[in-house]
Amino acid sequence: MKLWGTRFTKTTDSLVHQFNASLSFDVRLYDEDIRGSMAWARGLSRAGVLTQDEAREIIAGLEAVLSELATDAFVFDPADEDIHTAVERRLTELVGPVGGKLHTGRSRNDQVTTALRLYLLREIASLRGSLVQLQVAIVDKAAAHLDIIMPGYTHLQQAQPVLFGHWLMSFFWRFQRDWDRLAEAARRTSALPLGAGALAGNPLGVDRHALAVDLGFATVMENSVDAVCDRDYVVDLIAWASLLQMHLSSLAEDIIIWSSSEFGFVQVDDAYATGSSLMPQKRNPDSLELIRGKSGRIVGHLAGTLTTLKGLPSTYNKDLQEDKEALFDTLDTVALELPIAAGVIRTLKVDRARMAAALDDSMLATDLADYLVRRKVPFRQSHRLVGRVVRRAEELQVQLRELDLAEYQAIHPGFAQDLYAVLDFQRSVESRDARGGTAAAAVRIQIEQARMILEDSMSGAV
Ligand code: ARG
Repeated sequence: MKLWGTRFTKTTDSLVHQFNASLSFDVRLYDEDIRGSMAWARGLSRAGVLTQDEAREIIAGLEAVLSELATDAFVFDPADEDIHTAVERRLTELVGPVGGKLHTGRSRNDQVTTALRLYLLREIASLRGSLVQLQVAIVDKAAAHLDIIMPGYTHLQQAQPVLFGHWLMSFFWRFQRDWDRLAEAARRTSALPLGAGALAGNPLGVDRHALAVDLGFATVMENSVDAVCDRDYVVDLIAWASLLQMHLSSLAEDIIIWSSSEFGFVQVDDAYATGSSLMPQKRNPDSLELIRGKSGRIVGHLAGTLTTLKGLPSTYNKDLQEDKEALFDTLDTVALELPIAAGVIRTLKVDRARMAAALDDSMLATDLADYLVRRKVPFRQSHRLVGRVVRRAEELQVQLRELDLAEYQAIHPGFAQDLYAVLDFQRSVESRDARGGTAAAAVRIQIEQARMILEDSMSGAV
């Protein structure tokens, strides 16, 4: 017999039971469901709906159910629909009729979303930890490689030389914004729906603020209709993960390209690579390809969840049960990706010589244009003049620094012997010392800032 079965004259079709059941995936909410129920029992007792003894009996029973679930001793009944009904069924078996008083004034509508929020808050705390670990790996790696220059690319064409550490630090800031967004998502998740009942609120004088304090929520939801239907926090989290995923994927893509033999700038550690069943020589960056590849499923979950929510009538509709698999898969995926990405970064071998060998003089063309600018040539004109210099060097098949001074001077008399001093990658990098630039001094400041932020993140100050 279902919890709600008496008004029915037939039992549920077995396919419908299977279709309706969410136990296979919501079983992971057992701890939060039970904590929510314990708080509810205390709330009912404070309101005088349960005697203190009844509340104590129910809570002791819930403790027993919790330990059965935690030790895998819990026996599920084929009729259990979801974790919430399974817990209540078992509670009543253990404590008798008093168990039937727990659900007073409560609906699964407010129960389910309370448990899901609690679960998410716990997951968010652990994701924040993993995200910070990835940021630490990035900062440490960057700090240890402040003297390595590599070609910087736009459109995947060589553009200007940059420090390897500068490139790597760019990801720190992307992940820092993810960290901020996650903190905001947590803040919005920390609002209590419990006490909303099915949709209309609580008639028994339950103090919802006390419930919120009991369960560690920052606020209570102010509207019972909103409380049972709001899944913004689920979308928030999946949207957060989607953007994080974009960042992980582009980090992965950079490293995949640079680990190819054509580039050879970096080598992914054996622990994060795999071989081929056919070609003995292969070392494939599978972990990074999978990180890139997970984008499809996470963005898919975002589109899927929004589509489920679109056009739902207010309050609870069974469609909302579809929120969980998308959310859980997103959380599981990201929880695996973050430490793997951190491991890849920590163990990445950086090939200074290959990076140096790839530096082409043409990347110094902007510095040459700036040279003329310092000699009062307007930038637009110096850009054109240096374009001609580059073309001339190409015609003669020489590098810019091999082009005779006479050739330069034929293009513009402002060129002098000291132009060759500009044609130096180190100098080019070091000249970009304004805040946020690639000069080692500027990157050091960046790293200091990052370390301060990480300290705050780790101390829980933010
Ligand atoms: N398993 C359901 C869910 O995850 C429980 C809520 C069912 N509520 C209801 N009123 N039928 O959403």
